[in-house]
Amino acid sequence: MRQRWKLLIIPVALLVVALLAVRISSRRGEAAMLRADPEEILSQPALRKVALGHGKSVYQAQCASCHGANGTGDPVLGVPDLTAAWHLYGEGRVAEVEDIARHGIRSADKRGLNLASMPAYGTPRPYKNEPLPSLTPGQIEDLTQYVLTLSGRETDSAAARQGGVLYHGYAGCYDCHGNSGEGDSAIGVPSLTAGPRVFGNGSHDDIYKTLVAGRAGVSPAFGRVLSAAELRSVAAYVASLRKTTSQQADAR
Ligand code: HEC
Ligand code: HEC
Repeated sequence: MRQRWKLLIIPVALLVVALLAVRISSRRGEAAMLRADPEEILSQPALRKVALGHGKSVYQAQCASCHGANGTGDPVLGVPDLTAAWHLYGEGRVAEVEDIARHGIRSADKRGLNLASMPAYGTPRPYKNEPLPSLTPGQIEDLTQYVLTLSGRETDSAAARQGGVLYHGYAGCYDCHGNSGEGDSAIGVPSLTAGPRVFGNGSHDDIYKTLVAGRAGVSPAFGRVLSAAELRSVAAYVASLRKTTSQQADAR
């Protein structure tokens, strides 16, 4: 009985040493991740491996429920495509994604991004941050036709003309979306020139609904849920999903 117990010591000791070694090496990987320049992670093979392994598992656990298993988002829920060459915010740098993962967008965290939202023009007070006029259903229809022209699709040119006048003046759209509908990724305003692509499939009815009820998408803050190394890894993983503009052009 005593002898058998002794025989167990060796395998148990080996197991403990192996577990410690794994732990130390994963701690080292995490420390290296945090020391690195975030924008260099994907070009350094050892760190890239951590991002694509550890980062991917964090993504699957925390982000995939909204952003989709492959990162392609969900236009029905207004979740943007993380694999596309365009961004709603910033330039898709690792540090920017890390900031969004940590503090969120319009989240409960006060440091989350909350710079501009899409006003609800069909309501009596469309926007809390600045006085903007409410619009009639006819004006909203004209603006919808104008938004369709921005991606070459209008169906009623007289209405689109009226909508263009509203867009560049009274309704104040140009102020956020730009004179040619180019958007502004510094404040999370989407471009309209390739057709709206965050909310719905860019159809007439999706645009009309956006103008009536407004939009204010939320990405939660994970600063209290994930460790610093997990936030960095998931950000690098998400940044790795982006197609470059030329890949996007090839895919068309
Ligand atoms: C105060 C800034 C602001 C103004 C003014 C504004 N928008 Fe927006 N708009 C936004 C933001 C921000 C979003 C994205 C909201 C989000 O992601 O939750 C948006 C989203 C949209 C979308 C959806 C795009 C997509 O990809 O699905 C359309 C269409 C749109 N706006 C059209 C207009 C039109 C037309 C006007 C004028 C009647 C207008 N906006 C005025 C800020 C603005
Ligand atoms: C509850 C659903 C939800 C979850 C979970 C979620 N997001 Fe989001 N995320 C959104 C929505 C909605 C937006 C668009 C916000 C807007 O309209 O401004 C967004 C936007 C983003 C953007 C900006 C994309 C761009 O084009 O600029 C990034 C980056 C992002 N999320 C990263 C993450 C990461 C990383 C996680 C996991 C750690 C995560 N999100 C979890 C819903 C979610």
